[in-house]
Amino acid sequence: MKHLILAAAASCAVGVAAAATDCNKPQAAATPCDIESRVEATLSRLTLDEKLGQLWQCHWKTAKVAASEDASGLAISEKFLENARRGRFGSLIGKAGVEKYNAVQKAAMEGVGIPLLIGHDMIHSATTCYPIPLALSCAWDVDLWERIAAAMAPESIALGVNWTFTPMLDVALDARWGRIAEGGGADPLLTGLMGAALVRGFQGENLADGRHIAACAKHYVAYGAAQGGRDYNKVELADSTLRETYLPPFKKAVEAGCATIMPAFHSYNGIPCSANSYLLKDILRTEYGFDGMTISDYNAVLELIRHNVAADGAEAAALAINAGIDMEMVSSFFPDTLKDSIAKGIVDMKTVDDAVRNVLRTKYRLGLFDHPYIDEGEIKKGIDLAANRALAREAARKSCVLLKNNGILPLRRPAHIALLGDISGDAYQMLGCWSTKDLSNFENATLLEGLKADGADVAYTGLYTLTGRVDVAAVKAAIAGADIVIAGFGDYWENSGEGNSVARLELPGEQLKVAEAVKETGKPLVAVVFGGRPMAFPELAGMADAILYAWNPGGSGGWGLADVLTGISEPWGRLTTDMPRATGTCPQFYSRTITGREARYDAKFPNGRPYSSRYVDVPATALYPFGFGLAYTTFAYSNESATVDGDNVVFTLDVKNTGSRHGTEVVQVYVHDEVAKTVRPRRELKGFQRVALAPGETKKVEIAVPIDSLGYWVNGKYTLEPGFWTAWIAPDSDSGKPIHFEIAK
Ligand code: NOJ
Repeated sequence: MKHLILAAAASCAVGVAAAATDCNKPQAAATPCDIESRVEATLSRLTLDEKLGQLWQCHWKTAKVAASEDASGLAISEKFLENARRGRFGSLIGKAGVEKYNAVQKAAMEGVGIPLLIGHDMIHSATTCYPIPLALSCAWDVDLWERIAAAMAPESIALGVNWTFTPMLDVALDARWGRIAEGGGADPLLTGLMGAALVRGFQGENLADGRHIAACAKHYVAYGAAQGGRDYNKVELADSTLRETYLPPFKKAVEAGCATIMPAFHSYNGIPCSANSYLLKDILRTEYGFDGMTISDYNAVLELIRHNVAADGAEAAALAINAGIDMEMVSSFFPDTLKDSIAKGIVDMKTVDDAVRNVLRTKYRLGLFDHPYIDEGEIKKGIDLAANRALAREAARKSCVLLKNNGILPLRRPAHIALLGDISGDAYQMLGCWSTKDLSNFENATLLEGLKADGADVAYTGLYTLTGRVDVAAVKAAIAGADIVIAGFGDYWENSGEGNSVARLELPGEQLKVAEAVKETGKPLVAVVFGGRPMAFPELAGMADAILYAWNPGGSGGWGLADVLTGISEPWGRLTTDMPRATGTCPQFYSRTITGREARYDAKFPNGRPYSSRYVDVPATALYPFGFGLAYTTFAYSNESATVDGDNVVFTLDVKNTGSRHGTEVVQVYVHDEVAKTVRPRRELKGFQRVALAPGETKKVEIAVPIDSLGYWVNGKYTLEPGFWTAWIAPDSDSGKPIHFEIAK
């Protein structure tokens, strides 16, 4: 052990402060260098039991360490505190409030002298509830994502949490998969940008400043490729697909300094991710240089037995730690069996020490040794709840996507509006799958509240649920005196998120009857579609005069949606997934690789010509494609060009606002390698830019794309060959005029 301390000190010698570092004293601003010394000093004084304790995250209520609460349920039980003092666990999952946080930290600090990581899923809500991540991704707005995470960090601390299990970086190509709600959509570039922004927001510039929390990039990796879109199902992928589609967001998160990483539940090419050293060691540690901590997902070490790759807990723990898992979440085979496995030579002491190092390093980076307690007054002083709610409203309005508008929106006054559907008046249904679900915290802004607050003349009737029957006569009666009908459609958020895959993406229940009834009266219909995933609604798209896709917009959601409907705000969102026409076309994603027989659609064969890559009964194209979203104005693109300039391809064009309202366009750059060694995606997003334009205004836009981002993986090597590319500078992934550029030798 001494040897290691010397080695660390020696490597510090180049740094100025290193020689004077007293590793047992609090350090103001820890440099990576003195963190390593402190890690070694701490490690060297731990018993094996204490080390193994550091590698276990248990629940506050795990019976083994005694229920955390005493009989009153208010204080922490003495037995639980004793276990914290003895260092039986290194981390807790769950938020229990500041008082309990401080009590358990005090026990840990006074006993084993190592603070606890207290982790929880602070994903899109703490005391403020933002739209679900999939919705947020539709804002295509790096600054917004970072601001939200930065606002969530102190709110999380005030709830007794110093570590969040976010960002979720699973590129999701299949709308059936319930967890599509939790990530940044179907594109690796966008998911990576969003993930890195969230990491920056949660962790800040100085993770140890007491106002930030550790992030956790998950679920490593390719979880979104679960077969059939069924959660936890196996994933089988070519290495090239792994590297081109699923790994890039994780690489970005590592580069952004993400403190921790959580492997996914599923098996990847036959080996569960929690026992997969190719993923956890070869790629994550060796290729990406990740030196933070990994934590298995909830009971995932136990599930190695259920996956039948381990016979018992001892084997499961050995497999996991040998593959590169540092901390075990919930199941307790690390503390229970590793001692024995070390004695038997199945696990090396060095493997355990390295895992403990990764845990300690994370705790030092978080500043927990120096500031183990939360000063509740201080942290709350810095939280501006009103500002955060305003941010949630901004996020809601920027996340919804206007998919159709025949001119009925923005709503004109005076107009008497009939608002229909239980979901239009249901605050709980605004929240989404990872909200804290505590309505007492939030603004509880329903669509009804929002419309009223924005001054609309609105009469609300719940009338129907999304899954139940529809009384057509009652619908007609309710809208009799209305000029415009706004109706809620979609699905409840409980049908998305973890474990909630669906086999049907079509609108459930009898919702379409509502649209039919309104259509029969000839009144204009604005459909507001809620849900945690893309859905298939071609019939509604045919009938509605306008469609606003609202997702699960969060606690201030109703305000944000109404802002867009009334025109107080412009529509800002653009899809980050395709909207499929039918469940059977899934996985449906814009970046699918091309075939030798691409479908061609014409009047005679609207579903595609015979012997092409088509479905006989429905076009294989998206109902609304990735990148798509309308504004309240129109834009014209001209003079598109692509020029190689040094290390970049520079895409330029003129964008003109051809309408009569101010608007913001999201200009997107897609490329396709014309000749390559492997079959390439029909299009890949390589860059985008938001452009704000006054009516009649034209702006020149320039988007530089690094040439080295144009390559692909073949036979384990990142390859970039000279040759020709097609590119589209376009408002979505289906449109645009093809242009060409050449990368010369
Ligand atoms: C299981 C989920 O897969 C993961 O995303 C989450 O962070 C953990 N449970 C902890 O709640």
